[in-house]
Amino acid sequence: MNIIKVKDPVAGGIAAFGIIKEAIAAGAKTLGLATGSTPETLYRAMVESDLDFSNITAFNLDEYVGLSKDNSQSYYYFMQEHLFKYKKFKQHFIENGLVGDLEAEAAAYEAKLQAHPIDVQILGIGLNGHIGFNEPKTSFASLTHVTNLTESTINANKRFFERVEDVPTKALTMGIKSIMRSKQIILLAYGAAKAPIIKKLLEGPVSEDVPASVLQKHPQVTVIIDEAAASLL
Ligand code: GLP
Repeated sequence: MNIIKVKDPVAGGIAAFGIIKEAIAAGAKTLGLATGSTPETLYRAMVESDLDFSNITAFNLDEYVGLSKDNSQSYYYFMQEHLFKYKKFKQHFIENGLVGDLEAEAAAYEAKLQAHPIDVQILGIGLNGHIGFNEPKTSFASLTHVTNLTESTINANKRFFERVEDVPTKALTMGIKSIMRSKQIILLAYGAAKAPIIKKLLEGPVSEDVPASVLQKHPQVTVIIDEAAASLL
């Protein structure tokens, strides 16, 4: 894995944007996008650039089950607010967590993904090592699926909701195998709270207990971290 250490999240966003820009110049047509607070500086760099995304197809990693598009905590809403309101893409896909048949939605999303192979996938990382919403013990062979969120993830994400009871307990997420199919992956992590999991990601054994550790097996991964996230390496 290629590791880039940056001064702060702003520099991290610029570094990640540089890689995306290069990939697009080399012909990349499909981006995989992430939510959470970490990629915000990347989206700012994209929005502030004059790069044209109108030929680019975007897929989001995951979406909560039960939140409508106009709920400010839905990932659909997040993407509109941080990117799509400002930049026109050819098309944008995100799972729909409001449908009755979530299994059918997951299968349809996976089929769409397979029809549009991802050139560059952006990832954040959860404190427990989740990528997308692939929680610890998710099979490395998993495709897009419905998942129950762990206590750790619900607690980490409750800061965005008024009450912990408002945090959804289920989500739709690309699977580990869906993520690993991407040609290139950029994982972003900032802050001291992420230092222990970054150490496990880079130095620990590859294990389904730490979903992100699977990235050690991918041929083209760049990990962009600030000094605090790198402090235990
Ligand atoms: C969420 C998302 C992940 C994200 C993670 C970290 O649970 N499903 O895709 O990487 O949280 O979020 P943050 O960047 O806010 O630390």
